Amino acid sequence: MTDEPYRTIIEPFRIHSVEPMRMTTRAERVAALAAAGYNLFELHSQDVLIDLLTDSGTGAMSAEQWAGIQRGNEAYAGAPSFYRFLDAVTTLFPFRHVLPTHQGRAAEKILFTAIGRPGLVVPNNTHFDTTRANIEFSGAQAVDLPVPEGLVPSVRHPFKGNLDVAALDRLLAGRADTVPLVMVTVTNNSGGGQPVSMANLRAVREVCDRYGKPLFLDACRFAENAWFIREREPGYADVAVADIVREMAGLADGMTMSAKKDPLANMGGWLALNDDDLAEQCRSLEILTEGFPTYGGLAGRDLEAIAQGLTECVSEDYLRYRIRSVAYLGEALEAAGVPVVVPFGGHAVFIDARAMLGHINPLRYPGQSLACALYEEGGVRSCEIGTVMFGLNPDGTETPAAMDLVRLAIPRRTYTQSHMDYLIEVVARVAKRADSLPGMRIVSQPRQLRHFTARFEPVG
Ligand SMILES: Cc1ncc(COP(=O)(O)O)c(C=O)c1O
Repeated sequence: MTDEPYRTIIEPFRIHSVEPMRMTTRAERVAALAAAGYNLFELHSQDVLIDLLTDSGTGAMSAEQWAGIQRGNEAYAGAPSFYRFLDAVTTLFPFRHVLPTHQGRAAEKILFTAIGRPGLVVPNNTHFDTTRANIEFSGAQAVDLPVPEGLVPSVRHPFKGNLDVAALDRLLAGRADTVPLVMVTVTNNSGGGQPVSMANLRAVREVCDRYGKPLFLDACRFAENAWFIREREPGYADVAVADIVREMAGLADGMTMSAKKDPLANMGGWLALNDDDLAEQCRSLEILTEGFPTYGGLAGRDLEAIAQGLTECVSEDYLRYRIRSVAYLGEALEAAGVPVVVPFGGHAVFIDARAMLGHINPLRYPGQSLACALYEEGGVRSCEIGTVMFGLNPDGTETPAAMDLVRLAIPRRTYTQSHMDYLIEVVARVAKRADSLPGMRIVSQPRQLRHFTARFEPVG
């Protein structure tokens, strides 16, 4: 990439194949949303123009990844594709055992089936929804310990994803025997895609060592996190991203991973760990639900795509473009007066729906209302990360989440700058009439992970 001071963001790739997008009318979108029960997960993606529901599995693969797919070897056991995958994973994350899984939540399910049970507590900077659900399903309690700055969307801090080390120390001092492990999510997705510093990881490690507790990373966005460390943490400006990743891994005893994020694959994940006994237990569970441990729910071709993606996602040209293009969107929204979580995270821009729709009580879901309006306005699909996602307690009661955010997650290598310019116009138009947006009421919902299938209706 050039060192010259050009302002234009250059996508560091050429477009190799294209997927047409379908334009819809406002009337079609209004009807589609009503038919979906005002739940954006229920929309047909053909009815969506710019799909920012998630950055998970939605990225574009490279020519080399497609070539890897052709090379995929589908032997049941010991396929060369598995060993290429294993080599790529352990080059960055040198854990003793690596168990492939069909996606991240399968790794969580295996881990917490092995170690979770009623009476136990699992702390994290902020648990992602599937992590929390898997912990709670085992009977254990999931506890979020973000630093206070991480809960205030407008506060600027270079590492808002950090875990509150003093709070962790207090928790462990009081009930260390009930904590099977400590987790840190990098970057902190539910907390706004904010990074965790190496200093914070080191401090968490030190507390874990004092209490004899293993530390696991939920490492979905490790490369974006490493880029922020390189950019923002003293001493890392000249360290290669891959070396920063290895240093992060070196502070942990294991990891859960979704390969649908930073590894640039459309499917996959893994559980990696050093503990031999726990690994043996997890392998038995893996065989029950995922498959033999050298494929674990994946085809050989998926393992190849992940192996190649792991080499591409630590490229500095790619990460510079990735982080800069997310910031481009965030800066434009901020300039348009839209309240956004600052500084901008790695994979998404988060709109502070509670601030933007101050007239809507959190229990009337301002984030859901805003997400629906963005779709009706311009065919943009976003995701509520707030009271719909986190407000339902295991006992059936409801409390407002810490924040009501709407996430505009940017799929990797998929949309161009003109798509982002269109999106900025859509959000700015909705912002102008934010005061008139209605609250929402839940018409039906399941007891767990309700945001995926709940049905809503506008109130008033
Ligand atoms: C931080 C985090 N952890 C875990 C997961 C679960 O991964 P998967 O969707 O592959 O099951 C996600 C997915 O969005 C995530 O963002």
